[in-house]
Amino acid sequence: MTIPHSPRIAIYPGSFDPLTNGHVDIIDRGARIFDRIIVAILANAEKTPLFSEAERVALIEDVFKGQPNVQVETFDGLLVDYAHRKNASVLVRGLRAVSDFEYEFQMALMNRHLAPEIETVFMMPAEQYTYISSRLIKEVFMLNGKIDGLVPPIVEERLHAKRAGRPKARD
Ligand code: PNS
Repeated sequence: MTIPHSPRIAIYPGSFDPLTNGHVDIIDRGARIFDRIIVAILANAEKTPLFSEAERVALIEDVFKGQPNVQVETFDGLLVDYAHRKNASVLVRGLRAVSDFEYEFQMALMNRHLAPEIETVFMMPAEQYTYISSRLIKEVFMLNGKIDGLVPPIVEERLHAKRAGRPKARD
């Protein structure tokens, strides 16, 4: 007899401005473990993003178009409230280095305080992605540095389009 279980839904929240290969690695790992992983882009964040929410949703959907258990959405308000609305029991966060730990530890414990039934699960990306962040990708790319292999090809393409529309960096 098989015992039916309710699908295990995980939320992978973040800014994803833009999606990096480190994020892709974590999403792939999550998609192998959970029945469904929802990539949840924080909407209405105070900082001015390079990519709009709609652009980020479209980019991530494009990268994961062959993976039906990867879903992409935006959310605002408290992450745990959003997780409740989606019937998710897990929050996934990537841990690259010890320097990530303090911020992640605080968030995980605050989220546990708010919703003890929701677990935060930390996943490590492959070693070659441990130094990548969206912030560094944007900085290096806008200053004409090379980022091939660090973001999906479609993201690199869109970054080129953004850079073309901006004033050139001076020597
Ligand atoms: O990739 P980021 O920008 O570090 O992601 C941060 C994010 C989106 C996970 C965090 O800012 C968040 O959860 N914001 C939603 C508001 C909230 O629930 N805040 C309390 C978290 S302890």
